[in-house]
Amino acid sequence: MHKVAVLPGDGIGPEVVREGMKVLNALEENYSVKFDFTEMNIDAERYLKTGKLLTAEDVDALKKFDVIFLGAIGDDRVAPGVLEKGILLSLRFTFDQYINHRPAPLWKPFGRLKRDVDFNIDVFRENTEDYYIGAGGRVNNGSGKLDLRVKRNLYDLKVQLQAEADTKTDFAFEIGMMSRKNIERFADFTISYAKLIGEKYVTIVDKANVCSNIYGLWREVWTEKCKQSNMEFGFMFVDAMSMALVKNPDKFRVVATPNMFGDILTDLLAEVTGGLGLAPGGNINPNGISMFEPVHGSAPKYKGMNTINPIATILAAKMMLDNLGHRDLGQIVHDGVRKALDQHVYTRDLGGKATTSEMGDAVVKAIRAMK
Ligand code: IPM
Ligand code: MN
Repeated sequence: MHKVAVLPGDGIGPEVVREGMKVLNALEENYSVKFDFTEMNIDAERYLKTGKLLTAEDVDALKKFDVIFLGAIGDDRVAPGVLEKGILLSLRFTFDQYINHRPAPLWKPFGRLKRDVDFNIDVFRENTEDYYIGAGGRVNNGSGKLDLRVKRNLYDLKVQLQAEADTKTDFAFEIGMMSRKNIERFADFTISYAKLIGEKYVTIVDKANVCSNIYGLWREVWTEKCKQSNMEFGFMFVDAMSMALVKNPDKFRVVATPNMFGDILTDLLAEVTGGLGLAPGGNINPNGISMFEPVHGSAPKYKGMNTINPIATILAAKMMLDNLGHRDLGQIVHDGVRKALDQHVYTRDLGGKATTSEMGDAVVKAIRAMK
């Protein structure tokens, strides 16, 4: 029995999560696997009513689960950043999910490139540091002090910033930070994944030609780790990388990226593979509680319309199965999705008319037919 905390979240989150659970329930019929789902409403609605984001009580409750299945976080009624940082990033940081694995295989026939080119990329996005640490602030009228703090499982870091400008204007800071220990464990995980799939080469993204402090350390650690483990590797600047992913995606197999660039590149790559409707992600702590979610957001304007593509979330459920040690069942979910698409059941984003629930039903039907 796998204890799954389900966080439907905001916007279209509940609709897509429902389809993910539908598919997991269908597996219970024919395979020896059981899920115990517990829904928790850690979302915009609760925030608007109570002012609560991710609380200490939520964290204690979540610790009792094997895994977290998440829809999407974000709501127009709340200022940008409040829910994203207070719930989603807080979950990633609190559960020390330092790897964000975002597979990007071409989904035929939905690839957006004009050229007929096949590819299958696994992006590993660092998930707890970089420009995402939430350390920063404003110095108004040219002077002030910022007391910054970054608390992680690996460290509790305090940084003070004293600013004195010769001009009375406002300054805003957003500090990027990376730590050797975290880059090391992130590189270890990425390299062992590359080895697992028989891949000899890792492409490492950064902007070391400009942010040479933060990405200088990144390069130093990656170079050490790849050399130690006989992994071939190459660095790419993120601007050139975004071009290359459109021009020659078939040149890449395993890609490692800092948090912020990974956010951007995985949206770009999702579009290249067939659209955000098909892109899942896993926030992974190899020794703790991982969390699976679609790459897309809460898309509030489509809320409740039953039109959004649930495949990204169904594929997130597939990644969750892999993570729980059921790679065979993960493959079945993948094949079920492929079959449903081969039968031309397409949601609107893919040019069809199927509703969210019809798409989920088609995947369930394909899975039942495989038995
Ligand atoms: C994502 C999202 C989040 C991120 C936001 C909502 C904080 O865009 O999962 O890619 O930037 O990581
Ligand atoms: Mn994003």
